[in-house]
Amino acid sequence: MTLPAVDERNADQIAYWNGEGGQHWTEQQQVQDLVLAPVLDILIDRAKIKPGERIVDIGCGCGASTFVLAQKTGSSGHVTGLDISSPMLGRARELTPPGAPIDFVLADATVYDFKSLSADLLFSRFGVMFFGDPTASFTNMRNALRPNGRLVFACWRTPRDNPMFMLPLQEAYKHVPKLPEVKPDDPGPFAFASDERVKRILTGAGFASIAIERADLMFDIATGRGLDAAMETATSIGPASRAIADQPPALANAAIESIRAALAARLTGNQVPLAGSIWIVTAANGG
Ligand SMILES: C[S@@+](CC[C@H](N)C(=O)[O-])C[C@H]1O[C@@H](n2cnc3c(N)ncnc32)[C@H](O)[C@@H]1O
Repeated sequence: MTLPAVDERNADQIAYWNGEGGQHWTEQQQVQDLVLAPVLDILIDRAKIKPGERIVDIGCGCGASTFVLAQKTGSSGHVTGLDISSPMLGRARELTPPGAPIDFVLADATVYDFKSLSADLLFSRFGVMFFGDPTASFTNMRNALRPNGRLVFACWRTPRDNPMFMLPLQEAYKHVPKLPEVKPDDPGPFAFASDERVKRILTGAGFASIAIERADLMFDIATGRGLDAAMETATSIGPASRAIADQPPALANAAIESIRAALAARLTGNQVPLAGSIWIVTAANGG
């Protein structure tokens, strides 16, 4: 499957999510969906979906959110899950319950022609922080909404507020070189850490009634399966996994041992709960 039109400023992300990033997320889909379930619960609560609504799920990945959205809107409604990652959409299609009112579209949200959708809700769990030009992307995505349609998404707050990523990374950094520096506004998981920036982007894109709510959560990276499972999560997805990748075995193994010791110290029964912090963003189509 090839992508139709793309914004060249998204080229690195398109390569990443169709390459190792998309592959890791697809392999880890079941675990990721369990770890991130608390975020989906909050988003669904804030989205206040009514049966029959038309919904667009941006950066839907392997489809966990799309399936819940489809349950909420029911057979009289419809959900379009849109993503640039061919492997992740492949998994989403495999997992789609028969007869679910869903279609998946392989496309770049920055340039996709949304105009015919007339959706009630534009939704995303962590799928909107990867745009080269976020204001242009949200301006385009707003075309999916009918007048008074609404936007609901989750994004990560700062790395400092997210030990679930930073604790394994800091342990890795005791042994392996630092990852290339990422500027706060660069596309990536923390690009929307500044609520001021999010507000500026959405205002510039024509959204109104913007509300940004902080949610502090605990994420069980072991998904109730003990230390080995927590290690699998910490070393296969997220910044620590990227820091360890391609390192000489001696350094990578030393990093892994440090991460294991830090996670062992947080083992509670079969859980390894780590703190994370997100913004829940809601807005309305401004016109
Ligand atoms: C962190 S993952 C989240 C996946 C999914 N929403 C979830 O919560 O499991 C980010 C997703 O955004 C998608 N994405 C990144 N840039 C995109 C773009 N320009 N258009 C559409 N999807 C994009 C990626 O392919 C990836 O599936």
